[in-house]
Amino acid sequence: MNLKKIVGYKAAEFVKDGMIVGLGTGSTAYYMVEAIGKRVKEEGLSIVGVTTSHRTTDQARELGIPLKDIDEVDHIDVTIDGADEISDDFQGIKGGGAAHLFEKMVANQSEEIIWIVDDSKMVSKLGAFPLPVEVVKFGCGQVLKLLKKENLNPEFRLNDDGSKLETDSGNYIIDLHLGTIEDPHKLASFLDSVTGVVEHGLFLDTVTKVIVGRENGPEVIDV
Ligand code: A5P
Repeated sequence: MNLKKIVGYKAAEFVKDGMIVGLGTGSTAYYMVEAIGKRVKEEGLSIVGVTTSHRTTDQARELGIPLKDIDEVDHIDVTIDGADEISDDFQGIKGGGAAHLFEKMVANQSEEIIWIVDDSKMVSKLGAFPLPVEVVKFGCGQVLKLLKKENLNPEFRLNDDGSKLETDSGNYIIDLHLGTIEDPHKLASFLDSVTGVVEHGLFLDTVTKVIVGRENGPEVIDV
């Protein structure tokens, strides 16, 4: 059973005519965009999408979903996106697809935020999934050193050829291999204070609805 597809299609049901919709990134969000594209084509659903990555822009354009740039809208009704981990108090890690900077900027403008995940992403505490941190290229080695000194087990994310992975904004990603994050708010404040860090993948106190894919069907949780 494709749980990612099930939650992607379920989430698309929450989109209504006239909405401005933030379109997330990743292998789960892919199905949500596909489902919205179908509704646009088959039902004449009239929405405007605001995308969170070049990948999602390409997919939405191909499907004929009308798009606007984030700077062309004054609000976003709902953003639907995947997540890498969701803790039992509904904090999240995102950025496994290196898109968390745009995802957070779009989420920050959104009245409702829906995360769609298969049940393997639901955890008691965050941290088993490496925490993505986007950093500017200039001085990124110094930022890595500082994160090492803080015992945050940082590693640059690499492409298959060993080069450093670049984000849509032309920055690098450092993944923090933490195991468990005891205090996500404290870690977020620290990372926010590091010069050279553009954005980290801790999404705290933001989600309003989670749709979890389970073998017996999708579970919709209002947060
Ligand atoms: C993209 O950078 C991420 O934040 C994704 O939303 C997240 O990694 C979930 O992706 P998958 O649905 O592919 O697991």
